[in-house]
Amino acid sequence: MRDIALVTGASSGIGKEFVRQIAKKYKGLDEIWVIARRKDKLRELKKEIIGTRVRILPLDLMKEESFERLRKVLAKERPTVRILVNASGFGISGSFEHQTEEDAAGMIRLNCEALTRVTYLVLPYVSRGSFIYQMASSAGFAPQPDFTVYAATKAYAKSFSIALRQELSGQEVKVIAVCPGPVKTEFFDRAYEQEEMKFYKKLAMADPKRVVSKAIRDARKNKAVSVYGFTMKTTRIICKILPGKWIAKIMG
Ligand SMILES: NC(=O)c1ccc[n+]([C@@H]2O[C@H](COP(=O)([O-])OP(=O)(O)OC[C@H]3O[C@@H](n4cnc5c(N)ncnc54)[C@H](OP(=O)(O)O)[C@@H]3O)[C@@H](O)[C@H]2O)c1
Repeated sequence: MRDIALVTGASSGIGKEFVRQIAKKYKGLDEIWVIARRKDKLRELKKEIIGTRVRILPLDLMKEESFERLRKVLAKERPTVRILVNASGFGISGSFEHQTEEDAAGMIRLNCEALTRVTYLVLPYVSRGSFIYQMASSAGFAPQPDFTVYAATKAYAKSFSIALRQELSGQEVKVIAVCPGPVKTEFFDRAYEQEEMKFYKKLAMADPKRVVSKAIRDARKNKAVSVYGFTMKTTRIICKILPGKWIAKIMG
């Protein structure tokens, strides 16, 4: 039986950084399975990782057949999953009415549905003492005008993660919702194609290395939520105190 980590969204940004740090910080893994659409980027990552075998699964998690493919690979290989990272995701900013229907539905499909289905498919292979990292976001702390659908998908990811954590606590599986503020990745190339990024987001931009490192430390402490940096921790407290409609008004 092989011990593996499975990381979605591994071709760039936070998912890629998770692969790098998992290879260094989790000993005894036989393989890291990496999922994303861009095979060339996954190949580059595979070359970079020394000491742990990387298995490439080039899947589009917006496509139905990808879940069947994942189900089959898992059933055939029957790995022991010690770490699952759900980092595939995207966001599109701008007012809801000017968004395309495809983008709005796509965010729900990838950020909520795919995250849920990958977790569901992988869970039977997750062993006692394992870790599940769900990429949520500080955008999930409160409703966010002009990032309306994205923020709602991240509220889902956070809620799903915290409830699942409780369900799996008897099996000693540590589930953590990773909720950073803005992180310097390719995410923003797509998110702000249509409009200028708000200045405070530029100011709070974090390094993916630090965000992932903090998430791994927090998971080991069995925290429910990982929030990187003073600004985002303060934001979280404010979002807990003020009603969502006030936050929406301030942000709008
Ligand atoms: N950057 C931020 O400021 C920030 C803050 C908080 C939370 N997050 C969340 O963190 C996660 C990772 O974001 P990131 O910043 O690392 O963004 P990123 O650099 O754009 O990475 C997104 C990843 O998702 C993958 N992906 C996109 N569409 C996919 C699809 N249809 N099927 C499979 N994989 C797909 C991409 O790979 P391919 O294109 O190769 O498929 C890529 O590996 C996301 O859930 C994001 O919402 C980001």
